[in-house]
This record gives sequence, C-alpha cells and structure tokens, in this order.
Amino acid sequence: MLNRLEPQSPDALLALIKLHAADERTDKVDLGVGVYRTGQGDTPVFGAIKAAEQRLVDTQDSKSYLGPEGDMGFVNALMPYIFGSDATMGGRIAGMQTPGGTGAVRLAVALARKAGMTRLHMGTPSWPNHAQILGDTGLEWAPFDHSNPDGTANIDAVLAAIRGAGPNEGVLLHGCCHNPTGIDYSLEDWAAIGDAVAETGVFPIIDTAYQGLGAGLEEDAAGYRSLLAKVPEAFIAYSCDKNFGMYRDRVGAFYIMTGAGEVDTLDKAFSNANALARASWSMPPDHGAAAIRLILRDSDLTAMWLDELDQMRTRMRQVRARLGEAGMAGGVDMTPLASQNGLFSMLPVSKEQVVRLREEHGIYMAGSGRINVAGLTMDNIDKFIEAVADVTG
Ligand code: LMR
Repeated sequence: MLNRLEPQSPDALLALIKLHAADERTDKVDLGVGVYRTGQGDTPVFGAIKAAEQRLVDTQDSKSYLGPEGDMGFVNALMPYIFGSDATMGGRIAGMQTPGGTGAVRLAVALARKAGMTRLHMGTPSWPNHAQILGDTGLEWAPFDHSNPDGTANIDAVLAAIRGAGPNEGVLLHGCCHNPTGIDYSLEDWAAIGDAVAETGVFPIIDTAYQGLGAGLEEDAAGYRSLLAKVPEAFIAYSCDKNFGMYRDRVGAFYIMTGAGEVDTLDKAFSNANALARASWSMPPDHGAAAIRLILRDSDLTAMWLDELDQMRTRMRQVRARLGEAGMAGGVDMTPLASQNGLFSMLPVSKEQVVRLREEHGIYMAGSGRINVAGLTMDNIDKFIEAVADVTG
C-alpha cells in the first residue's frame, strides 16, 4: 500500500537548517528560517520565560488533561495585547490555545471550510506553509500580488481581490511583519481593506505571528484592529513563537469573532473549533502556554518580557537601517529594507544567485530570495553586503 505514495521533497526552509549545520565554514551566515538572533548570533530563551518556567517547576502540581481548548488563562491573558483594552470586543470573541501559529491557521482553514467557505484569496508571495496547509485541507485559493516591485504594498491588488470575490469566499491577511516581504499595509491601506471587507462580506482570516517585532506591540496591531472594528466576523491565528521566543514549544492561539449580540453563533463556532481540535491534536502542548500565562499575570515578569521584546525590535531596526544606508549592493537596492518590518525581506536575486551566495560565500537564505535580517550582526553585515554585490554586480 505505502509503495503507491509519491515521494515528497522536504520543506525547503527546514532543509536549509540542515544544510547550514553541515557547513564547516566558521564565517557562514544563516539568513534562513525565521528565528530571532542576538548581535552575537544566539537565539536565547527569554529571561522572563526562564523565570516563569522556574515557577512552573516549583508550583505546578499536576499535568492532568486540560481539554481541546488548552490553557484558557493563557488564551484570555493574551487577548488585550491582540484586541486592545476591550479585549473581547463586547463579548464577540472566543479563543483557544493551538500548537503554534500553524495549528491556529490549520484550525481557521478547517473551520472556514466546514462553515462553507469555497475559496480563499491570498497575497503572494506568502509564507510557503500557507499554500501547503490550504492544499492539504483542500480549500481552493486564489493569489493576488501582495507587493509592488518598488517595495510598497499593492493595495489595488488586495482591494480588487476582495471586491471581485464571490459569496462564501475569504481573504487571508498577515497582521504585521509580512512573511516573506516585510512589506506591511499602512493604516490608510487597512482602513480601505476594512471598508472593502465590510461592503462585500468577504470573510477575513488574519494571521499574526510577529506582533511586537515591527513598530511595537500596539502599533503592529493597529491595522488589523481597525479592520475588526468594521466587520461582522473574522478568524485570528496568533503565534507566540517569535515574540516570546517559544519556537519549539509550539504556543499559538486561535480566536473567532462573531457579530454583536450573536452569542449563539459564537458558541456554535467555538464548539466546532473545539471538535476539530480534538480530532486533530486532541489537546495542545501545555508547558509554553502555562509559562506565558504566568508572565502575563505578573507585572514584573510582563515588564521583563516587554523589555526583551524591545531589545529585539531595536536590534532589527538597527540592522535594517544599516542595510538601507548601504544603498546599492551590486544590482540590489537595499534602501527599501530600512522601512520594512519584522524578521524578513526579499532580495531581487535569482535562484542561481542564491546558490552562489551559499556556495561561494557561505550565506544561507531561502531560494525565493527571502532573508532573515536577524541573522545579520555588526560582524557579518559588511560581508553580506559585499557578497550580494559580488553575485549581482
Ligand atoms: C519562517 O517562515 O521561517 C518561520 O515562520 C518558521 C516556519 O515555520 O516556517
């Protein structure tokens, strides 16, 4: 039976981790998978997480089951950061914990399908796993251009996709720090997108995996909050992988928003999400979410976390500013990278140039031309700029 299966190539991003690990050059540079790195090139556990984990070790008295919705203390404590001071928007939002942001996106797509969504519009390029999840769950999707060649967001394309969508169709939007381009919609863009979604009834799914890594926690949420304020229903997929540094602990959350006063609809949708979670992973892993709950319920630990997040964002902005100052590196204009957000940006390089960067200079990046700017430090940034100039000049 198993011999009938077609071989699958490994996920290209994850394969890059192994290629980089096998490279013996001491000056190699990893700009591949999206993890934050310090100026020394490390991805340390947050101090706030270490402190919360110690408290868990000291005080947790049971590891008995919680249920498909996971740690609801964590889910609720996160809500003010995502939705603002009226965290439930007047009782219109219900959430549950998921295994990472991927679990949340998967649940969003599965629930949308179950509720009758027939097609999802998605800006491309996007995080490659979006297409993989959609393919695997069998929800048809249609691409539109996320950005313009000059490094700005293509607002016309997203508005055309929304206005051209049929009934029972949705749109997938990155909440902030767009992966892979780093190009976010402006507040004016979000206002126009919100109006178009409200007029057409297209169902919005917001995937937000990098809150706090762009301009700030509140600033990064402002755009999608303005959309949520205008529309009757939405799904929000959230990841704590990056802003709490919890990558392998898989901490995410999925939120459902329904119309004002539609408590029955919210309950019904939540019960379906619960059933889908039970059938998929039964219950999410607890440890990371429990640690984050402790942080968010303790003002000292919260302050510590916010400070660590600030440091990450400040370092990435410094790297981006330095890249922007470099201007032209051979055939690549680095200037737009200074105003883009989060871990990622795209360089206009060919697949062959990506291979040359890897083989001749020990610089590892996705075949698409995406770089993780957090892999750059004041020690390797000049080497990187020179290498780009070398292969594109
Ligand atoms: C990335 O895009 O590099 C990250 O979101 C990690 C992943 O799971 O792909």
